[in-house]
Amino acid sequence: MSGVVDPSLLDGAARLLAAARSVAALTGAGVSDESGVPTFRGAGGYWKNHRAEDVATPTAFRRDPALVWEFYNYRRDLLAGVEPNAGHRALAELESLGARFTLVTQNVDGLHARAGSARLLELHGNIWVVRCTGCRGEHTSREALGALPRCTACGALLRPGVVWFGEPLPPGVWEQAERAVAESDCLLVVGTSAVVQPAASLAWRAAQAGSRVIEINTEPTPARDIAALGLYGQAGVILPDLVGRVRALRVQQGTQETTS
Ligand code: OAD
Repeated sequence: MSGVVDPSLLDGAARLLAAARSVAALTGAGVSDESGVPTFRGAGGYWKNHRAEDVATPTAFRRDPALVWEFYNYRRDLLAGVEPNAGHRALAELESLGARFTLVTQNVDGLHARAGSARLLELHGNIWVVRCTGCRGEHTSREALGALPRCTACGALLRPGVVWFGEPLPPGVWEQAERAVAESDCLLVVGTSAVVQPAASLAWRAAQAGSRVIEINTEPTPARDIAALGLYGQAGVILPDLVGRVRALRVQQGTQETTS
């Protein structure tokens, strides 16, 4: 079932993907919406009347680390109980369908990796990583943390291993993401409001380099302006349908190659 999306648009998008030698995807919070993870800018995007931009900053952490940890512990608790959805799984399958593939995500929830995506760039870090503000050591922990967790090695305050507003992206990750989108023949832009920089600029970078951009979202975003195609509806419904069509085209291509 493709919901409200016109099947001819889905076929058009599938043909672009099946013809591409290199595919990239840029995802945002919307891809995890159907797993029950609240998005940042939709309804329910507020936490205790704070916007993400108010608590996810180095300034907020210096001013009130307990409040910032309360926010991240709330999100870690929430994420501990959720599972990847059909959209995450479809993107993992797309990776196995022949083209070179890179998934660039703004999400810190780790759901793409759990769904099986391997060539994955987490632009904003990962919420299960904790980093020491003193010795900079970091480790992954899914355990519940205290109100002000401290480093067992040096005693300094720990912080979430995510990128906050005003901070640089993890070294090397941005360069790899830029290269992947610029080299792609087709870029999927899925479940992102396409307004948070520099991540959003990847869609424009891809279009400038000649990649065909396909937007998948419940509603058009600024990325619609540079998209070759827009598929509007739930990512967890559209992606499995779309990837099923790509799979069918790849099978046809394989059959044609072996019979010619
Ligand atoms: P946003 O919350 O800004 O946008 C979510 C997008 O997903 C919106 O465009 C929705 O229309 C769309 N959406 C919602 N449900 C959907 C569904 N089921 N299927 C398809 N689309 C759906 O999230 P991001 O764009 O990811 O940064 O936000 C970018 C960054 O801003 C985040 O990584 C985070 C945030 O503040 C940091 O924390 C640094």
